[in-house]
Amino acid sequence: MYGLVNQGVHDLAVKLGGESLWHEIKSAAGVDHETFLGMDTYPDDVTYRLVEGASVVLGMSTSEVLQAFGRHWTLYTARKGYGAIFDTMGRTLPEFLANLDAMHARLSLSMPELRPPSFVCEQLPGDRIRLEYWSHRPGLAPMVIGLLTGVGELFSVGVAITHSVCSSSGADHDEFLIDYGPALTDG
Ligand code: HEM
Repeated sequence: MYGLVNQGVHDLAVKLGGESLWHEIKSAAGVDHETFLGMDTYPDDVTYRLVEGASVVLGMSTSEVLQAFGRHWTLYTARKGYGAIFDTMGRTLPEFLANLDAMHARLSLSMPELRPPSFVCEQLPGDRIRLEYWSHRPGLAPMVIGLLTGVGELFSVGVAITHSVCSSSGADHDEFLIDYGPALTDG
């Protein structure tokens, strides 16, 4: 994956516990890169090991780490100069989710080695969306849950997510039912 992803994990670790936490995570992960370059690609294994390292050091499940990372990713990429892309991909949550493939396709222009996931979005009656998630990579569905929460925050819309089809149970993709609306906003 592009180093931008590992930089995002670094950024979240520093936010949670400073550089010392990041070093602990890297050491638990057996990752000895001093830094990651955003536009270089690294083996996926490095990212998976960082997630496992974070899970050991923080005493969280890998699923919880992936969710936290997904949520952080929307904030992080907006801050790293990708906010303008967000702005052109829809003015509402449903519009934005329908454009996730277009967004990654646009990113592919500057990141030719990107192997993005694919999303199929269907609007259901009553502020509900059915979202299929198709990926080349196993085990990242919890990250999607975090991402959807982060996207909801971007639009100041609460989301309640049901993981209705799971690749971890043998399906060939994942599927989420997303109920959204102001009434679902936390606090
Ligand atoms: C402008 C913001 C974003 C940027 C810059 C970005 C970029 C990337 C990059 C670099 C990867 C790694 C793939 C690779 O290197 O081959 C990735 C993967 C991924 N992206 Fe995005 N992304 C953005 C927003 C989103 C959003 C909002 C979602 C919402 C659902 C999303 C869903 C995913 C998922 C699930 C993956 C995991 C990879 C997989 O399943 O194979 N991304 N993205």
